[in-house]
Amino acid sequence: MKHLLTLKDLTQAQILAIIDQAIAIKQDYAPVADALKGKSVVTLFEKPSLRTRVSFDIGINKLGGHAVYLDQQNGALGQRESVQDFAMNLSRWCDAIVARVFDHNTLIELREHATVPVVNSLCDLYHPCQALADFMTLKEHCGDLSQVKLGYVGDGNNVTHSLMFAAAKLGADMVVVCPPGHFPDGNMVVEAKAIAAEHGGTLVLSTDTAALEGCDALYADTWISMGDDTPISAIKAKFQPYQINSALMAQSGAKYVLHCQPAHREVEITSQVMDGPGSVILDQAENRMHAQNAVLLQLLTQ
Ligand code: CP
Ligand code: NVA
Repeated sequence: MKHLLTLKDLTQAQILAIIDQAIAIKQDYAPVADALKGKSVVTLFEKPSLRTRVSFDIGINKLGGHAVYLDQQNGALGQRESVQDFAMNLSRWCDAIVARVFDHNTLIELREHATVPVVNSLCDLYHPCQALADFMTLKEHCGDLSQVKLGYVGDGNNVTHSLMFAAAKLGADMVVVCPPGHFPDGNMVVEAKAIAAEHGGTLVLSTDTAALEGCDALYADTWISMGDDTPISAIKAKFQPYQINSALMAQSGAKYVLHCQPAHREVEITSQVMDGPGSVILDQAENRMHAQNAVLLQLLTQ
């Protein structure tokens, strides 16, 4: 593994190795406390962040490395200087670039011109670090990931795409339930279905929440992603049947609920479910750090 742009590029063995290492270091950081000693990682954000920014910064510190945070003080990436020059300059100082960008093509350009690993920390198409933390969390609570059935409910987006590819590679079953017109990208669905079939998993799409029956866990994300200025009032009625609430949890039979956060309480998820006994949402947030650290260890020390 040289970069992490999408989980599509990883094998099942590589994904499982990251999850297993993340679970191991979560128990004990002592063996890896100096693993990134003398190494620096630039974390670059074109969009806001709480979890990603903090979990990378503190996580890199736990591995003995140094994180350098870059925000948009100089304007959007590619404006003050080309993405190519940006990547080539950064590569002379740092050992890896973690980037949250508007356009996936910016990551492809960074990867092309950087001589150090590039990690996608969210773009318009994917959120691979999130999906790794999510399947780590499912492993902790449900065990064997090839036996897990995950139900994603809401807007088909970057998080959905990464969850679909993670589930497919791991041979898990996944159901994606969205309002009409809000499905994940059609080509990615075709691709993920083929990968799932290869690995003994399934991917089912529906507009009907009845399709969620038998899921071990339900997953919510915001109905409007960063960079989309659609007002909530324009879509709320259409999305309301897709809210994760106690009725939907009971109807599906799911024991657990996940949300990548930031969450909008009483919008895509109710507080009753978010703060309820089946919520593993804060485990997901914590696990972002461990999963990303496992990625950095694979990229920088293997
Ligand atoms: N889940 C997630 O990526 O959160 P932030 O946007 O706060 O980083
Ligand atoms: N789909 C959301 C995820 C936030 C972590 C977004 O892109 O805004």
